[in-house]
Amino acid sequence: MDLQRFLCRRVALLLLLMPCGLQCMSVHILSEQPVYVIPGSSLVLKARVEQTPQEEISVVTWEREPESGVAPGKETLATCPGRSFKCAGTRPNVHVNMQAQESSLLINKFSSADTGVYAVTVTNQKGAETTGHCIVRMYEEVHQVSLSINVSHSSLVCGEAWGTDPHFSWLHERVAITQTVGTVSKDGTTLSVTMTPFCGHFTCMVSNKLGYSSATYTAAPCETEGRGTTAAVVCLVVLLLLVGGVLAFLLWRRQRHNNRGVRLHEHLDDAI
Ligand SMILES: *[C@@H]1O[C@H](CO)[C@@H](O)[C@H](O)[C@H]1NC(C)=O
Repeated sequence: MDLQRFLCRRVALLLLLMPCGLQCMSVHILSEQPVYVIPGSSLVLKARVEQTPQEEISVVTWEREPESGVAPGKETLATCPGRSFKCAGTRPNVHVNMQAQESSLLINKFSSADTGVYAVTVTNQKGAETTGHCIVRMYEEVHQVSLSINVSHSSLVCGEAWGTDPHFSWLHERVAITQTVGTVSKDGTTLSVTMTPFCGHFTCMVSNKLGYSSATYTAAPCETEGRGTTAAVVCLVVLLLLVGGVLAFLLWRRQRHNNRGVRLHEHLDDAI
């Protein structure tokens, strides 16, 4: 009898809620997802509640569960019950704040144990719930940069394993790439080499907020301009020396001829 009455009341309550149901009140976490947090820093999530004038927020709950379903399930981080909005965190590094239609969650000294899917659930005075979700991951440093060549397309492809938000930049002989060397794809991962010959050291540098790492591809050594000039100068000097030598020889021979001529004259003079 009691059970029946209870169920009836429940059904009546549900029907009463139906016209508005769960769609009336809604809550969203105001962050671009997923959120990446540097280990040791703070995570701040803000949630905004949309509601009709007839509705009242009765309870706000923040929860977290692992992103992959293997590890232990949901953990309640904080609850803000009643109208006072005095929030109680369940851990010393968790702080929750509630103001009008906004609730914020702060987690200090973020660690890998704090990653996962965060959920904020708002319950109205009739017991209807609405939940907003947000994926939170750890900000990872750059890992395993590799550089490979695509021979058929004269291009170099730079790869990085699992760093967060990697930025790619390229160097040729330790100088930033210019149009004369090649062009970099929009995402930065591919360098189409246009210089001929394809020579020298190509470096791909991958960086993010936590640091950088690089990889280098070494092609055949370049015949640098400096070496070319030196060779030209040496050739010129050798040529000049040769020409000078030949001229000196010719002059010396002419000198000898002239001397002989003078001696001949002297002989003739003596005879006369
Ligand atoms: C070389 O690059 C082209 C164009 O991006 C691609 O289609 C091809 O599969 C690549 N070859 C190798 C061996 O990676």
